[in-house]
Amino acid sequence: MTGPISKAAGFTPRVAIVLGSGLSLLAKSLVGGDPIPYGAIEGMPASAIEGHEGALYAAEVSGVPVAAFAGRVHMYEGHSPQIATHAVRQVVEEGCEIVVLTNAAGGIDPNLEVGAPCLIGDHLNLTGTNPLIGPHDKRGPRFLDLSEVYDKELRALAHSVDGDLREGVYAGLMGPVYETPAEVRMLRTLGASLVGMSTVLEAIAARYLGARVLGISVVTNPAAGVSPQPLSHDEVAEVGQRAAARLERLLSGVIAGL
Ligand code: HPA
Repeated sequence: MTGPISKAAGFTPRVAIVLGSGLSLLAKSLVGGDPIPYGAIEGMPASAIEGHEGALYAAEVSGVPVAAFAGRVHMYEGHSPQIATHAVRQVVEEGCEIVVLTNAAGGIDPNLEVGAPCLIGDHLNLTGTNPLIGPHDKRGPRFLDLSEVYDKELRALAHSVDGDLREGVYAGLMGPVYETPAEVRMLRTLGASLVGMSTVLEAIAARYLGARVLGISVVTNPAAGVSPQPLSHDEVAEVGQRAAARLERLLSGVIAGL
């Protein structure tokens, strides 16, 4: 299968990696090659958020054809769920089998170490919407089973690469505001250990089209009220950048183990 992403990459990726806030640099070190600006890829929306580069890196990593999206678009920028999931839907429609969704997240569980990656075991979609609303395009089931959004085998592989890796429930909210301490207490009561503003819609879209999904958060800060410190995007991006090396080891180990 081919399409705009495969055309730009020069091959159909088997693995697509979406890089979250502050994690874009990883695309260069993990995948390498020349960045392909999103503007050069037909249909690709660009992100206006600092720390989200807006370029595709495509190359073989350990013999696996990989495409890394350095930068994602979010609904809080005013985009629809369809636009926010465009890159993931497009790459899966072109034949990509595995989607790795990374993000920067607040740690609701106080035991989560800032700077450490944490696997997403399940999610709470609290955005109030999802990318499958609307007429059924019949590429997947009308009523999608979400019993296992985040692939068990891929999670086991990730745990085998990094024995210290934690796993938690990610609460995906609309943003762009950070949460209030009361909201964070609510999320903890609901069973969430991580909170962020992305990932859940892309995970649903990828599962709908039959891809396997791995979700990894990098805990960039204790969530609001967990520590007395106010939250800032600069801190999120900076911690993300510092944590990128650890995430890169995990990702390269997972790719090598596929
Ligand atoms: N809340 C929501 N999104 C985030 C956070 C947070 O604390 N940290 C990084 N992204």
